[in-house]
Amino acid sequence: MVNIMKKTTILLSLLLTSICFGKQIVVTSDDTMKFNVSEITVEAGSENKLLLKNVGQMPKSAMGHNLVILKAGTDINKFGMAAMTAAASAYIPQDSNKSDVIAHTKILGPNESDEITFTLSKGEYPFICSFPGHYAMMKGIIISK
Ligand code: CU
Repeated sequence: MVNIMKKTTILLSLLLTSICFGKQIVVTSDDTMKFNVSEITVEAGSENKLLLKNVGQMPKSAMGHNLVILKAGTDINKFGMAAMTAAASAYIPQDSNKSDVIAHTKILGPNESDEITFTLSKGEYPFICSFPGHYAMMKGIIISK
């Protein structure tokens, strides 16, 4: 009886944890200019935590990476081009393209990581690395349903 109650309590607390904190997603980036995933599924309306880990060895100035979540329907080529000239703001454009950004990590060097928190409504959201020239290779989609 006690055992069953214990199990129920554990199950209940696990359930509460997942409701309160949502999903933790871990994405890695590397020296071959790639993310380890191209598609991420999340639950609409819940808070998500995404940890980007740069597992590459090349210096940040040559092979830095970030992860930028963009609004559904954003033209990633247009955004990526604008980001290229935004070195002063860590490759997050400060012009009209800025409004396309939902969340973004810092630019990471070797063995650095950064976590972001976001909540999405139903839809498909592109994500890219906005370091100059990377968005063509480093891109994917977050499906929120
Ligand atoms: Cu990159």
